[in-house]
Amino acid sequence: MSTKSFEGIRACVFDAYGTLFDVHSAVGRHADRLPDASAVSLLWRTKQLEYTWLRSLMDRYVDFWQITQDALDFALDTYRAADAALKDDLMQAYLELSCYPEVPAVLNEIKDRGFRCTVLSNGSPRMLGSAVKNSGLQDVFDAVISIDAIGIYKPDPRVYQMAVDQLGVSPSEIAFQSSNAWDAAGAGAFGFKVAWINRFGQQPERLGTVADAELKDLTALPGLLPDS
Ligand code: 2OP
Repeated sequence: MSTKSFEGIRACVFDAYGTLFDVHSAVGRHADRLPDASAVSLLWRTKQLEYTWLRSLMDRYVDFWQITQDALDFALDTYRAADAALKDDLMQAYLELSCYPEVPAVLNEIKDRGFRCTVLSNGSPRMLGSAVKNSGLQDVFDAVISIDAIGIYKPDPRVYQMAVDQLGVSPSEIAFQSSNAWDAAGAGAFGFKVAWINRFGQQPERLGTVADAELKDLTALPGLLPDS
C-alpha cells in the first residue's frame, strides 16, 4: 500500500453509516423480536441505499430519515414482521447507532495531529447530530455535512464538492474514508484521496476507480497520514 498517495493531506472526511457507525447495531438491539434479524438488517440497509440512488435518478428527493423508514417498512413487510412499536424502536435505535470500537481513539489522534475532521453523509442533520452526540464525537468534527442541504445523494459529485467548499481545500488535500465501496469509488472519481474501509471483506467494485488504500478498519489510517 502506497502511503505516498496521502502526502499533502490537510483534512480527513468520513462517511458516517457503515464507516463510523454500525448500521446493524439498530436491529442488533431488538434481534429477539425478529424472525431473522440479520436478514432483516441486511435488506433494510440494501433498500435504504437503493432508494437513495433511485430517488436521485428520479429527481424525487426525500430526506434520509424518510428513506430509512421506507426501507424498514419494506424489510419488515418482506419478513412478515411489520409492527408499529417495533418500527418505532428500530428507528429510535437508528438515531443512537453504536460507533465502531476503534473510531474515538483514531479520530482523536488525527484531530490532535492538526488535521481537520469532517463527516460527509447521506444522513439528515437530525440523524447525524444524534449519532455523533450519542458516540461522544461532537468535539472531534469541524463540521458534520449532510447532503440534505443540496437534495441529492451520494455518489453525485455535488456531494463531494460540499466538503471542498466547507473546508476550503483542494480535492487532492482531502483523505476520504468510507466502508461503502461505491461511495469510495464516487469520491475517488471526484478527486479525493481515498481509504476504503473494507470492514466486511468485500470484493472491490468495478466502477473505474481504485482506492489509494484498503484498510480493514480505521486503526491504520493515522499511519498513512503525513506528519503535519
Ligand atoms: C452515508 O452517507 C453512505 O449511508 C452512507 O453515511
